[in-house]
Amino acid sequence: MKNFVRITTAVIICVAIIISCKTTKSPTTTTATPPALTYTASVKKILDQNCNGCHNNPEKKKGDFTKYAGVKAKIDKGEFQEEVFQKKSMPPKEPLSADDFDKLKKWVEAGAPE
Ligand code: HEC
Repeated sequence: MKNFVRITTAVIICVAIIISCKTTKSPTTTTATPPALTYTASVKKILDQNCNGCHNNPEKKKGDFTKYAGVKAKIDKGEFQEEVFQKKSMPPKEPLSADDFDKLKKWVEAGAPE
């Protein structure tokens, strides 16, 4: 009977340890570091999907967003912020997902790092 109690206690302690390890570790393991909020790591993809069907030509006034310099020029003039965040007139047809909108906003606010 004593052995049974000891084994049961040991099992309970082991289970408790395993559970506490899992719950304390999960935030670091499941939230894999997101890609850095830079043009190269994450913004280019958003622009490719939502803007670059139209904004891909350096000859045209509306700009070439397939290159960092093309987007940065519009940000420096404030046109990007105006069209995308204030008027929300870009993209003209399908609006950005809330997530993409958020990322672009944070990126610009962080100084639009390359
Ligand atoms: C369907 C084509 C199309 C898509 C998609 C599109 N744009 Fe545009 N965009 C245009 C056109 C055309 C103009 C020029 C409009 C004008 O001058 O009235 C423009 C103008 C702009 C301007 C102002 C440029 C300037 O020099 O005045 C910005 C900034 C801009 N777009 C950003 C974006 C962003 C950011 C996206 C994606 C989130 C996007 N656009 C998606 C067609 C598009």
